[in-house]
Amino acid sequence: MIQGKLAQHILENITTAVLLFDSDLFLQTLNPAAETLLEVSAKQICGTHSSILLPEINPLHEALLQVKEKHYYMIERSVRLLLASTHSITVDCCVTPIYSHVHEGIESILVELTQVDQHLRVTREENLILQQQAVHNVIRGLAHEIKNPLGGLRGAAQLLERQLPNAQLREYTQIIIGEADRLQTLLDRIFAPSTLLHTQYTNIHQILMHVKQLILSEISTGILIESDFDPSIPELLVDPDRLIQAILNIMRNAAQAMNSKGKIQLRTRIQRQMTLGNKRHKLVVRIDIIDNGPGIPEDMLQQIFFPLVTGRAEGSGLGLSIAQALVNQHRGLIECSSQPGETIFTLWLPMDVQTA
Ligand SMILES: Nc1ncnc2c1ncn2[C@@H]1O[C@H](COP(=O)(O)OP(=O)(O)O)[C@@H](O)[C@H]1O
Ligand SMILES: [Mg+2]
Repeated sequence: MIQGKLAQHILENITTAVLLFDSDLFLQTLNPAAETLLEVSAKQICGTHSSILLPEINPLHEALLQVKEKHYYMIERSVRLLLASTHSITVDCCVTPIYSHVHEGIESILVELTQVDQHLRVTREENLILQQQAVHNVIRGLAHEIKNPLGGLRGAAQLLERQLPNAQLREYTQIIIGEADRLQTLLDRIFAPSTLLHTQYTNIHQILMHVKQLILSEISTGILIESDFDPSIPELLVDPDRLIQAILNIMRNAAQAMNSKGKIQLRTRIQRQMTLGNKRHKLVVRIDIIDNGPGIPEDMLQQIFFPLVTGRAEGSGLGLSIAQALVNQHRGLIECSSQPGETIFTLWLPMDVQTA
């Protein structure tokens, strides 16, 4: 038999969501994995009866009633739960009666929930990270190949310029030099994020407010930036300059997409027990950057994190791929969902950041 403290410890750390109801079907307790899965806090819902707990989870309440009545173990597969009336998840649930040692009958009922669409999500994230890495390797290889001849071209144009008999012809060599410099800057931007991070404990809300100021100074009118911060988020060990750059790239896109008229919301939350790539983190900070602009077309949405993908005539298509690379260096991830009127970029940053 596992001792009480150890059992408690296991319950707090396992990834299966566990809920315990008493024999009258009032919720006694739930573990952190269950809080995360159902997006509620234990404080909010302990003591609630299963019939009103989450009225949308009727199949679960039905299962509890049956187990209470018939005293047997039950499994319900692929139950859809509607969370906070906004989105749904699919779970398998096992409902087990626990018999009393002292009197006849059931003492409590144990519910275990396993999210089945979670597997899909993890695979999708892993794919996203792998794709990113593959594309980055190709681009970096290509950039390297361009860099050397570019230096040669620029040097040759400078030599040529000195030999030109007619000063007016310099206009052409200047174009060569100017364009070579522009390409050089572009290549430097592709290469830049690979060097070591300079981390320090940083308040992410200060970073967000700083970027807000930058955006407002770039785009003077028409953009309203609202914030909804969770003040309990502790300081994170991150590279502030890189996070500023990543968030700036995202917010600048939002401001540009809205044609400098609209609203951007900044929201921060803590998420417990979250898998990013193939690593599980106890605590992750979630930063949402939400705009009410036109949205990103469906066919483009799958590709926006790839370099050189742009929907703007004057765009470089580097902003989001750089932002993703910067956040990946913090073992985090950027995701995006979009529909007309609501585009959400979500930055996930593990609190136990071990820098790449
Ligand atoms: N908030 C947004 N709303 C609408 N479209 C967006 C948004 N963010 C990014 N995009 C689209 O994604 C494309 C890629 O963005 P990015 O990588 O920053 O490159 P760039 O800004 O140079 O085009 C943008 O050109 C735009 O079409
Ligand atoms: Mg951009």
